[in-house]
Amino acid sequence: MSDLDSLKNRALDQLGACSDESTLRAWNSHFFGKNGEMLAALKKVSELPPESRKEYGQQANIVKEQLSASYETALKNCLEQAMLKSLETEKLDISLPGMIPAAGKLHLATQTLRDIQATFAEMGFQVFRSREIEEDEFNFGLLNMPPHHPARDMWDTFHTTDPGLILRTHTSPGQIHVMRKFHPAPIRVILPGMCYRYEAITTRSEIMFHQVEGLVVGTNVSMTDLIGTITAFTRKMFGDSRQVRIRSSYFPFTEPSIEVDMDCIVCGGKGCPLCKKTGWLEIMGAGMVHPEVMKNGGYDPSKYSGFAFGMGPERIAMLRHAIEDIREFWGNDMRFLSQF
Ligand code: PHE
Repeated sequence: MSDLDSLKNRALDQLGACSDESTLRAWNSHFFGKNGEMLAALKKVSELPPESRKEYGQQANIVKEQLSASYETALKNCLEQAMLKSLETEKLDISLPGMIPAAGKLHLATQTLRDIQATFAEMGFQVFRSREIEEDEFNFGLLNMPPHHPARDMWDTFHTTDPGLILRTHTSPGQIHVMRKFHPAPIRVILPGMCYRYEAITTRSEIMFHQVEGLVVGTNVSMTDLIGTITAFTRKMFGDSRQVRIRSSYFPFTEPSIEVDMDCIVCGGKGCPLCKKTGWLEIMGAGMVHPEVMKNGGYDPSKYSGFAFGMGPERIAMLRHAIEDIREFWGNDMRFLSQF
């Protein structure tokens, strides 16, 4: 018992002499560490004659509790003191600018999509979302491309293990869904969404990309309406003085079919590397909805007419921001993405 008393007094004396955190921690490991004195004193119980074990054990536990409580208090006081001291000596400069928290941003593709949607919304277009996993019949068949039609080669396709189910290669199948859903005309919608093509990835082509399809159906809808709409859109997106020109083209689901160019935003038409010295940049495919497609959508082509167009927002963003490599869009490099 007297051993325990002297251990306790010695420990408390030494604790009282500790002047800082590190001496306190050293004290703790000396008495309470793996080979510490307190543990050794507790172990001693087994060496004692059985009649004195109980009393010794109880006493030893009391000493242990007292010492560890004293240590906790001493450590807490010491840390508080240290903090108060550092507040006194260290200066707090409240005029320093704060740290700006890193805020997230919308992806450039999303920003561009929203701009495009807002521009068409001003012209009275509604947004319609059509499915990404599509039936072969909608992606091709109902768009005037029956099985084995050679024009299917224009769209290299990802097939699923389900026969007849593919990843849509363009947003045009949405034309059929919209026409079947909305009766009677007028229809004035855009269909934004992701498309997929089984192609080599290069600076100019990706296997996944967005498209924004446009569809207008009504009575007396004409090619002039199409050109007017596209011109208004281009000027809104790229500046008031933009010029557009149309070239004849071919899509099985439009007749006539056109491709739309706008004058080069870098050289204004003089010729530069961006426009490959032509002065013009291609921005979309378009045309008057083919009578067969009208029928497939449930509209009588002798009463109704319509126009459709399809553009790539990534391409639009590339033109707007002079981005040279489409792979940047899904490369997830923050150095690229955080610029926009
Ligand atoms: N779907 C066509 C493509 O992906 C673009 C297009 C849409 C052309 C609408 C005409 C009308 O190439």
